[in-house]
Amino acid sequence: MSHLNVKVAAIEQVTEHVKHFTFISENGEKLPAFSGGSHVVLALNINGRIHRNPYSLMSSPLNTEHYGVSVRKQEMSRGGSVFMHEQIKVGSRIQITYPVNLFSISKLSHKNILIAGGIGITPFLSQIVDLNRMDTEYELHYAYRSPEHGAFRQQIEDMCGERSHFYVASDGQILDFYALLSKQPLGTHVYVCGPEPMVNAMIAAARDLGWPEKHIHNEQFTAPQAGESFKVKLALSNIELEVPSEMSMLEAIEEAGVDAPYLCRGGACGRCELDVVSCDGSIVHHDNYLTNAEKTGGKKIMPCVSRAKCQQIVVNL
Ligand code: FES
Repeated sequence: MSHLNVKVAAIEQVTEHVKHFTFISENGEKLPAFSGGSHVVLALNINGRIHRNPYSLMSSPLNTEHYGVSVRKQEMSRGGSVFMHEQIKVGSRIQITYPVNLFSISKLSHKNILIAGGIGITPFLSQIVDLNRMDTEYELHYAYRSPEHGAFRQQIEDMCGERSHFYVASDGQILDFYALLSKQPLGTHVYVCGPEPMVNAMIAAARDLGWPEKHIHNEQFTAPQAGESFKVKLALSNIELEVPSEMSMLEAIEEAGVDAPYLCRGGACGRCELDVVSCDGSIVHHDNYLTNAEKTGGKKIMPCVSRAKCQQIVVNL
């Protein structure tokens, strides 16, 4: 993939666990245009190994002098967010991908319901700019744990006014998906981003209420998980490699010098899909892309997040 070289122009501590980073182009030029809901993948050199993490662009698509991303520090993750919080300073240089949008507002919607949980608010910040510009009807529903976790609340109130609704769990305010979705007019689309249980509950409610699948949108990037090491044979490149326990299969393929395709690196977009030629064990699927039938069929794997429990898996790459 082609890359952009950016420099960190500013860092703001937004909440105890969330930092906001402003990037400008290293050569001083404008950055490429993007639409609300886009993300970029940051390449972070952590102890000599490149970690690639996707983050939503939350700055205004109307101003490409800079990009903004926010990162929640996840102590239990593989280190990318901790590195961003502790090692990245103003002036640090980072390579990022061009923006990709897997979570755009439908042009066919009559009304849009945006539902965010916690740090899942980030893609909506740029979407709101697009929605305000399009003069399209929308509501934003933002749920978070306690007042100190309500990142960007003031900014959202300024941007959305009465169209913003907040649910603070510690104050007993619960977002009732059924109540919200059951009163919407025909032609409404719903978008959800947040913790997995919340996203799944919202999707289940929309399906229960008979919402068409095409009207239900979610951004559910899964972080790669550590697991047992296993061997991979790339049949077309004739390369054999080992996936160590703390590395994803995609990262191991890249480290072997093979340019594998990807967009989200979170098991959501389908771009990295590989055909499985053989596997002398089982595939451990972690993606949200393959159907259950495809997962049980054992003929496909999304190497950005999924692993294998086997001696060797052979894939067509
Ligand atoms: S890169 Fe998107 S599913 Fe793997």
